[in-house]
Amino acid sequence: MKIAVVGKGGAGKTTTSAVLARSLARQGREVVALDCDTNPNLGISLGVGDLETERLVSLREQLDDGDVEHAADWDEILDRFGTDGPDGVRLGVITRIENPDPG
Ligand SMILES: Nc1ncnc2c1ncn2[C@@H]1O[C@H](COP(=O)(O)OP(=O)(O)OP(=O)(O)O)[C@@H](O)[C@H]1O
Ligand SMILES: [Mg+2]
Repeated sequence: MKIAVVGKGGAGKTTTSAVLARSLARQGREVVALDCDTNPNLGISLGVGDLETERLVSLREQLDDGDVEHAADWDEILDRFGTDGPDGVRLGVITRIENPDPG
């Protein structure tokens, strides 16, 4: 199951995403939360902490600046640009996925 949360500024996207992710993880589902926002603060709402959120955002900025290579596949994305949060949610702060596999 894939869930995308979109909407106007300040509508509650980040809060809704974090509650959904943690609720589904608590039910035993494997959850990967991807923060693609230009102002990425899902990590704070998810509970991974300010420092870890800033680390992931900084990593993404290095990618945007061309200082580091894009990940080659999904596992590498989650490994290099992700972190484990409370309730077992894996958070990734990413820009875009190039050449995604079907589905
Ligand atoms: N269901 C809700 N009821 C009341 N307040 C809420 C609710 N959901 C979010 N908020 C509050 O509204 C504000 C905006 O929420 P949030 O940051 O989740 O929105 P957003 O759509 O992600 O914003 P942005 O466009 O800036 O990324 C926050 O202060 C949040 O605590
Ligand atoms: Mg937001």
